[in-house]
Amino acid sequence: MKIAINTGGGDAPGLNAVIRSAVLAALERGWEVIGIRRGYEGLFRPGGIVSLDARSVRGITHMGGTILGTTNRGNPFRHAVEGPAGEVRMVDRSDRVIERIRELGIDCLIAVGGDGSLRIASELAEKGLRVIGVPKTIDNDLAATEVTFGFHTAVQTATEAIGKLHSTAEAHQRIMVVELMGRHAGWIALYAGFASTADVILIPEVPYDLARVVEKIEARWRQGFEFAIVVVAEGAVPSGGEASYLDGGPAGKKRRLGGVGTRIARRLEELTGHETRSLVLGHLQRGGAPIAFDRILAQRFGVAAVEMVAQGSGGCMVALEATRVSEVPLADAVRHTKMVPVDHDLIRRARAMGISFGDRRGGGR
Ligand code: F6P
Repeated sequence: MKIAINTGGGDAPGLNAVIRSAVLAALERGWEVIGIRRGYEGLFRPGGIVSLDARSVRGITHMGGTILGTTNRGNPFRHAVEGPAGEVRMVDRSDRVIERIRELGIDCLIAVGGDGSLRIASELAEKGLRVIGVPKTIDNDLAATEVTFGFHTAVQTATEAIGKLHSTAEAHQRIMVVELMGRHAGWIALYAGFASTADVILIPEVPYDLARVVEKIEARWRQGFEFAIVVVAEGAVPSGGEASYLDGGPAGKKRRLGGVGTRIARRLEELTGHETRSLVLGHLQRGGAPIAFDRILAQRFGVAAVEMVAQGSGGCMVALEATRVSEVPLADAVRHTKMVPVDHDLIRRARAMGISFGDRRGGGR
């Protein structure tokens, strides 16, 4: 048996733990394992295919990033080709990808990725490639799995950063607005905001009204707590408005979210008269060593993926259901984005403690 592993999309802490665990589990069975560098690009580049043995995956479980490299511009169904006049057109080279994988004698591909990469994997599976997905994203927005590895490390990083903001905010009697990642889902902001005892948490699932945020902040000043921490998800939307983007979105590429934190900070300073600062935590949330929870989950997923290969599965994804690692169809995993339910337990508990979600009067009466 010969299997291949690739990692696609934005990196997440725990990717190396998946690679190592899958390689070791496959070697235990006497299989051969190769790695494809940078998503599917390695199939077409010199040096893009690497043999993975016990030595090549030694000591990587605790490391961030991915030893195989990754890309979020590697969709084989929409491969960018530059014409003679510099014009760029999109071509479908998925058949070439499947052909190359067959030429290499690969029996099954383990594709580790987020929604984009798993959608590609699902489409390749529909075209006949045997592929097993492993869900990855710090955003935790993948359906069909309770949690993705990388998410809790990102939450930990954000929680520690927000913890540091408390003292400087209090020292200067300032409002601090911190923008966190998560795309159109508010998981990171909700968890990190709750863990770091933010005063206001703004997430895409609960459109905000700045007047409500101002009420909460004024209440804090009245109570003698002359500082405030506002955690905002990059995809947060004002009631009746739209999310903030950094660019207009080049053709064929996803628009990049960003800027909502700065926008809110500017308005809050105008509306409250309190000095306000904002920061974007950005890619810090994706870097560094995975925390124990993510190392454990990533290794469970890596081994489970190899077990699925051994059982003859294909077109499916490993998932966490309650405490069990299970097998779900790839197509189910990418059918929709997993948003935070508005009656999520953390939202209810946070509201009960007076944390504002910017949508209704409440908190600090
Ligand atoms: O999906 C993971 C993520 O980190 C999002 O939270 C964020 O919006 C995006 O990727 C950033 O992507 P890039 O690596 O292109 O900056």
